[in-house]
Amino acid sequence: MSKAQKEVCSLTPEEAEIELEHLARTIADHDRLYHEKDAPEISDAQYDALRQRNTAIETAFAHLVRDDSPSKRVGAGPAEKFGKVEHVVAMLSLDNVFSDEEVHEFAARIHRFLRWSDAQPLAFTAEPKIDGLSCSIRYEKGKLVQAATRGDGRTGEDVTQNVRTIKDVPKSLAGTGWPEILEVRGEVYIPNAEFALMNAAQEQAGKPIYANPRNAAAGSLRQLDASISASRPLHFFAYAWGEISSPIADTQMQSIEKFGRWGFSVNPHTQLCQNAEAMIDVYRVIENARADLDYDIDGVVYKVDRLDLQERLGFVSRSPRWAMAHKFPPEQASTTLERIEIQIGRTGALTPVAKLKPVTVGGVVVSNASLHNADEIVRLDAREGDQVLLQRAGDVIPQIVKVLDPNRAQRAKAYVFPTHCPCPLKTEAVRELDEKTGEPGVITRCSGEFACPFQRVRHLEHFVSRQAFDIEGFGKKQIAAFFEEGIVKEPADIFALGGRKDALKLHRREGWGATSVRNLFDAIEERRTISLERLLIALGIRHIGQTTARLLSASYLSWQQFHDAMVAAQDRQNEAFTQLNELDGIGSVMAEAIVQFFAEPHNEGLVERLLGQIEVIDATPPKSDSPVAGKTVVFTGKLEQMSRDEAKAKAAALGAKVAGSVSAKTNILVAGPGAGSKLKKAQELGVKTMSEEAWLALIGGL
Ligand code: IVH
Repeated sequence: MSKAQKEVCSLTPEEAEIELEHLARTIADHDRLYHEKDAPEISDAQYDALRQRNTAIETAFAHLVRDDSPSKRVGAGPAEKFGKVEHVVAMLSLDNVFSDEEVHEFAARIHRFLRWSDAQPLAFTAEPKIDGLSCSIRYEKGKLVQAATRGDGRTGEDVTQNVRTIKDVPKSLAGTGWPEILEVRGEVYIPNAEFALMNAAQEQAGKPIYANPRNAAAGSLRQLDASISASRPLHFFAYAWGEISSPIADTQMQSIEKFGRWGFSVNPHTQLCQNAEAMIDVYRVIENARADLDYDIDGVVYKVDRLDLQERLGFVSRSPRWAMAHKFPPEQASTTLERIEIQIGRTGALTPVAKLKPVTVGGVVVSNASLHNADEIVRLDAREGDQVLLQRAGDVIPQIVKVLDPNRAQRAKAYVFPTHCPCPLKTEAVRELDEKTGEPGVITRCSGEFACPFQRVRHLEHFVSRQAFDIEGFGKKQIAAFFEEGIVKEPADIFALGGRKDALKLHRREGWGATSVRNLFDAIEERRTISLERLLIALGIRHIGQTTARLLSASYLSWQQFHDAMVAAQDRQNEAFTQLNELDGIGSVMAEAIVQFFAEPHNEGLVERLLGQIEVIDATPPKSDSPVAGKTVVFTGKLEQMSRDEAKAKAAALGAKVAGSVSAKTNILVAGPGAGSKLKKAQELGVKTMSEEAWLALIGGL
């Protein structure tokens, strides 16, 4: 607002008219910067002041209200970013296979898990895997009340208003018999023909075009202004469900049929198959139909048809045991390998990256491919200037398959792998020994460790990443700039930024607006309280990803208990070390990596300073009225009614801790026929032992 601004009551009609015109234009410009460019130039308060001034003048001069007045535009005000939605039932991903043999193996694995003979018939559904983005739509008493993207599987973004605009998503459920609470899940996509029209229109309007229908669907769904989503040709196929207040049906197939009756589009190529052979037959049919379909698919999804069996099979990590994606062969293209560059990973590994002449593979422009390590370059005999065959499967990082025409006369010299880190310190890079075999391994690592600035930056990037602290608005660019200036050198510094807000004058920097600065500080504050699982991921301990972090968090429950145990475990004879190794899912290499992390004074310092800034929320033991919740259980001997895997999975689902060996901490040993040393040890220690039958009776059956 200019200082010379007049009181509204002293404006002449001419002045009012001029100012209203100016305000309409200015506010529209700021709306565009905010919504479309995500790069606001004024603060929310300044924006609000403009709108208030507009309203005040319009109230005084009602006859001067313009057709394009900001007060007439719905939803033009600065909307918050998308709200977050917690998925009560996690949105999972699917494991992939690429060959017929693996499909047979998938079916055989399920038979084994259920302890069924191979001859026992087991039906599956087979349906196209739609290349769009998944979405969960919640109905209460038959009315659409919320829609969310998948996000990280546990928390997604609230896209309710956008999904309401999709024509084949019912706002009210048709038919009868739906549960009072029903979350329908499926894929949002844009058909190919409509994608072509949409891109033509974008081009004509001088706007950027989308690389493929999937990106276009994602961009169209995630619009803060739902009227933009409404103008895009979004479609939806229903194929799964999340929270439901009562069962929908007994089988997958019946559930899909019900979705159809309740008003959803369901994929017409969905088929019931009686065995692996039949699944592969359907795969071939769908593969042949692929070119004629009006939407992109990247494979076929198989699901165990009986829902009671799906329940028994459960999940491993983030994918169901009862489902599998059979992907189409990866798409290939040839291009020129222009240069080989070395990048430094979080743990200092020197990773060679192929810089390619940009080429489109499977609808995506690729200009980089990982060459993994020195051995891979030798295996491929890849040299700068070579023509290479590139392939890309789904979301997997593009790979170089082979060098085309490696025998041509004019070739560059063989690539020489660097002996030093490319960081400013130029520290020596050392070929590491394999942790398991002790033989020279494939990884070359910078020996600079904590001194290597490249590693420290990677570490910070990992720290704020989605599975770790998930600090939105803190991307690679910002981290690099803050690190370079010495403002953020280690994780604790991130949480000290707020205290230096005024001195930093971030909003004056290029690429920052008042809103983005505020969003960043809000995001940091929001993460000052963090779950133990996220903290464990964020520490960046080698070999510790989300699955292990989750397991450690569920086992130790609090940072204090975990840390005390890791300190005690520095003495490998201490029981704390034995217990860590006994956790089902922690191998000896992992256990060693965790313990070594805390042996390093530098790490202890980093963690201590970080903990001075944040609060770690204890994990809650799984709420369970089951008699085995919180108990440590060991299985030994042959189990008759269920496989070892199912027994372990079921025990864990009931809140028990499953261990691999017997110790004084063991509460129950379930011993089948043939049990030997573990049973003996349990008896010596006075641990309660029981048969499989007694165990099943205790937990209430399979
Ligand atoms: S079922 C628990 N069925 O593939 C199983 N997913 O790679 C949940 N997708 O996130 C998924 N078509 O976005 C299922 N017919 C289909 C699908 C499908 C596409 C996507 C979905 C999922 C991803 C997993």
